[in-house]
Amino acid sequence: MRFEQTFTNFLLHHQEEHNRTYNFLILMDALFSAAKHIEHYYLTGALQGNLGLADTVNVHGEDVLRMDQIAEEITNHYLRTSGRVIYAISEESDEIVQMNKENGRYFVYFDPLDGSSNVPHSLPVGFMFGIAKRNLEGVEDEHLRAGKDYVASGMFVIPTGTFTLALKDAGTWRFHMDETMEFVRPTRVFFPEEAEWELSFNSANRYTFAEKVQNWIQKNERKYAFRYLGSLAADFHRLLSTGGMFMYPAIVNHPDPRKNRPEGKLRLMYEAAVVAFMCQEAGGAAVDEMGRPILDIQPNDPHQRSALYAGSKPLVDDIARVLSSG
Ligand code: AHG
Ligand code: MN
Ligand code: MN
Repeated sequence: MRFEQTFTNFLLHHQEEHNRTYNFLILMDALFSAAKHIEHYYLTGALQGNLGLADTVNVHGEDVLRMDQIAEEITNHYLRTSGRVIYAISEESDEIVQMNKENGRYFVYFDPLDGSSNVPHSLPVGFMFGIAKRNLEGVEDEHLRAGKDYVASGMFVIPTGTFTLALKDAGTWRFHMDETMEFVRPTRVFFPEEAEWELSFNSANRYTFAEKVQNWIQKNERKYAFRYLGSLAADFHRLLSTGGMFMYPAIVNHPDPRKNRPEGKLRLMYEAAVVAFMCQEAGGAAVDEMGRPILDIQPNDPHQRSALYAGSKPLVDDIARVLSSG
């Protein structure tokens, strides 16, 4: 018989090799329980009538879908009952979600269902998360962590049965769900050398980007294939294997100025930094509209936005030079 290494076994060895506790395993188990339940609701969503609107708007003024609410409720339940989380920050909750202030060990920043425009079509969405750890040496001031202080970040691409996890200084790893719904076969992923690199951005927005970004696109786009699903986790999942760059630039030249988004669209703590952390551990890079490393940005607001340019290092370095020039 042939056996696959399970995620739990992989992580157990990782923790023991680094003389770490099992608390992180317990936290990951909670995230897996959440992901599997979200996956189930998503797979049956069309038949159960769960893919539509929930008739409410979220903290960002965006329509909330029934699936957003389901995914949020599931994730909060499993994180809270793990006993390991001090508090969580979620795309769907204006307030910080307090969990286990006394004995919790981790901060979890998550978007339980990213890529909402795909939901009515049952196409891929993401459950994305970043994890930071309590200060174990001194007093914990509960400040919002920058991406460089995450200990892990990851994404489930739902409903594809794939999971990617980046561990601090230990690489970005991909897992697949087996027939018993276990995540198995740890495979380290690196951005490949230039071969068939792809660019991924919403091309309909291109004339709303800063002029230097438009010029960069014009100069470079013919060299690459172009792919865009409109779901960060799914688009980034592809890029990790093929190489290239995902971009969600700031919107600064919209014909209707009220629709400009000078801060960018994506959320720093549970979208951009999650991807940036996975990039770093896979040999890539990620920067914002000023060309600054996303991982260096200190959040002031749990829901703050950022532009994002993420992917293969030579491409990101190239656009960072353009973005940081006057
Ligand atoms: P949301 O958090 O509202 O689901 O947004 C999804 C994000 C991200 O997943 C995707 O890359 C991008 O927004 C798509 O935005 P556009 O529809 O503007 O291209
Ligand atoms: Mn969401
Ligand atoms: Mn989102």
